[in-house]
Amino acid sequence: MTPSIGRVVVLLGAPGAGKGTQAQILSERLGLAHVATGDLFRAAVRDETPLGVTAKGYMDRGELVPDAVTIEMLLERLAKPDAEAGILLDGFPRNTAQAEVLDKALGDKGGRVDVAPYIEVPEADLVARLGGRWICRAGGHPYHELSKPSQKPGICDVDGSELYQRSDDQPATVQARLRQQLGALDTVVDYYRGHDVLRVVDGQQAIDKVTADLLAAIAPATGSRG
Ligand code: AP5
Ligand code: MG
Repeated sequence: MTPSIGRVVVLLGAPGAGKGTQAQILSERLGLAHVATGDLFRAAVRDETPLGVTAKGYMDRGELVPDAVTIEMLLERLAKPDAEAGILLDGFPRNTAQAEVLDKALGDKGGRVDVAPYIEVPEADLVARLGGRWICRAGGHPYHELSKPSQKPGICDVDGSELYQRSDDQPATVQARLRQQLGALDTVVDYYRGHDVLRVVDGQQAIDKVTADLLAAIAPATGSRG
């Protein structure tokens, strides 16, 4: 029997735009599996797997990890049973080659990208967001020193685990990530605009307002009640 797949949402945004923040809320609200390639790479780095050893150098330099390893990792994740109910992609695709592979893989399962909401945030705000970000060790829940502090300093509100700062959030690496990745993001935005599934959302609003706009953008495309 051909494996099937449900609704597919591709959440787009620059580093620090709020993909992870929103994906955690939306995946729960919409019953979709949250698939974040950055989280998968960080788990591999932490576990010191061969994939993690390969990925670490690229991540530390703010570069994209090569397509061959990234795509293999993503396809393995899509083959897991929870993907059948539908997926919310966070951090994939990052270039048109990845977008084309995704289309092919979804097509083989009788699916497609239903909608690609793009959280748009100006570059100056991205730097401030990444510089003040803390995330938790257990679930990757994101916080910010100013805009979203945890209730107890250094402790995740959701699961009680320790908060830490990502090594790629140091100022020099943030600059490198923006310099090296924003151009590729533009090509992916154009790709989905060309496929008529792009929906631009203003990411400079409060987190709950961004969530509301994302739900409004996603619902018509997926038949979801939000
Ligand atoms: P990845 O983990 O995907 O990082 P990223 O794309 O750089 O994005 P971030 O996770 O930094 O930001 P985010 O958009 O999730 O923002 P967040 O919600 O945390 O990738 C890391 C690395 O892995 C890449 O550099 C690359 O090397 C590699 N990689 C991953 N995928 C790859 C792929 N497909 N191909 C190749 N390589 C790949 O929010 C940021 C901060 O802002 C938080 O502090 C948050 O509290 C705050 N915030 C959120 N929303 C708001 C708001 N509305 N107002 C104010 N503050 C807000
Ligand atoms: Mg993220």
